[in-house]
Amino acid sequence: MNTIQILDKKFALSIPEVEIQAAVRKVAEAINHDIANTNPLFICVLNGAFMFAGDLMKSINFPCEITFVKLSSYEGFTTTGNVKEVIGLSESVVGRNVVVVEDIVDTGITMERILSSLKTKGANEIRVATFLQKPDALQRDITIDYVAMRIPNDFIVGYGLDYDGYGRNLKDIYTVVEE
Ligand code: IMP
Ligand code: MG
Repeated sequence: MNTIQILDKKFALSIPEVEIQAAVRKVAEAINHDIANTNPLFICVLNGAFMFAGDLMKSINFPCEITFVKLSSYEGFTTTGNVKEVIGLSESVVGRNVVVVEDIVDTGITMERILSSLKTKGANEIRVATFLQKPDALQRDITIDYVAMRIPNDFIVGYGLDYDGYGRNLKDIYTVVEE
């Protein structure tokens, strides 16, 4: 079996590069079909989505912009307590059509926060493109427009996703091996 070691854990090859690339191209084709001529701003959510966004954008065939954001958590000062905000968004999204590009939607909590932040900032139509989704883990009522691949509720690394900071550079996806 094709296994690798990252820090203290073993991971087994689960989605090879060719399958990833075919799935990413399919998402690009759907986006090309749906929103060409809407001058969208693609928003890549760092760190995890850097590889998906890089490959996806190579197959987008209409004029568009791409920018990058990170999330920041703030303690206190609000009634909700721990609030995550989209930071690094220097472009105005007022009245703008945007496509959020994510590595994975797991519980959906992160995406829910990104979507509410973009709405607050005045974005017009907001679409979501995620490389992976774990449907069994979803806890929020969010609409995901484009999903390259759906996976079981197991921990994975590679293609931008990390285990404690490592594994993002792998071109294939690996699943943790329980021992
Ligand atoms: P959510 O808020 O639960 O949807 O979590 C989304 C974030 O959790 C992603 O952007 C990833 O950073 C991280 N994440 C979720 N599942 C995995 C995984 O299997 N491997 C690595 N990171 C993951
Ligand atoms: Mg992410």
